Amino acid sequence: MTARQLAWRACYELLAARVRRPEWAFMNYGFASREAPPLALDDADEPDRLCIQLYDHTLSGTDLRGRDVLEAGCGRGGGSSYVSRYLGPRSMTGLDLSSRAVALCTRTRRAPGLVFVQGDAQAMPFPDAAFDAVLNVESSHCYGSMESFLAEVHRVLRPGGDFLFADLRDRGDVGTLRRQLAASALTVRRDRDITSEVLAALRADNARKLALIDAWIPRAFHRLVRPFAGIEGTRNYVRLESGDMRYLSAHLVKEPLPPG
Ligand SMILES: C[S@@+](CC[C@H](N)C(=O)[O-])C[C@H]1O[C@@H](n2cnc3c(N)ncnc32)[C@H](O)[C@@H]1O
Repeated sequence: MTARQLAWRACYELLAARVRRPEWAFMNYGFASREAPPLALDDADEPDRLCIQLYDHTLSGTDLRGRDVLEAGCGRGGGSSYVSRYLGPRSMTGLDLSSRAVALCTRTRRAPGLVFVQGDAQAMPFPDAAFDAVLNVESSHCYGSMESFLAEVHRVLRPGGDFLFADLRDRGDVGTLRRQLAASALTVRRDRDITSEVLAALRADNARKLALIDAWIPRAFHRLVRPFAGIEGTRNYVRLESGDMRYLSAHLVKEPLPPG
């Protein structure tokens, strides 16, 4: 585990501990594209549109109706709640390393079949072949071993299951990520660089995020949190803009069993 990964993790843990407001449901950078058809959302979900659009893009039309779905790294539960309320899975399980985040999700995100579990994405507390789809949005950059995570995804998926992934990496690590995906026991169906759509979302959401940080986070933590939130002009935003950091999405599958 690198110092940067530890810093990301510490920041998420701090946010879970210090900001208990349920209105803060997402911790991703969002996705904005003129090409994507507009997503129909309830008024209550409109403030989170850009973060929800990152989920919608990552799922890219995968039909989750009647399926058992896992989100690894569910954070504050907004994405698992969205899938559960809009996309008709049979069950939706959100997993996160942070017990505080899981407690917040369990307290505040309610929908039929939606449950939250504390655990490590690299050693998941689930039996083999327990899920039809695994979703992973902006969480894997914290993992010490991407290989262990991918092996776990393969283990908990049923044959024919989908792995739907989105995350950022330093430019020098993008090749490593692509090799890790290709070397896993899963088959890569789609792999796309979505840095420009993520940057468009960061720009569009900048003023709202700044206002929320001012309103919800103690002033002493603002300098720490702003770069993690991708606020314009701060480290991660500048690195995405310069190309030193890239954002990828991918769809992989666990091959179905041969007939007979
Ligand atoms: C940037 S947040 C994204 C949360 C959510 N997917 C979203 O888009 O709002 C990353 C989350 O990954 C979680 N995480 C980090 N390492 C993890 C691990 N090894 N296993 C499970 N969750 C982990 C953190 O606790 C944090 O809640």
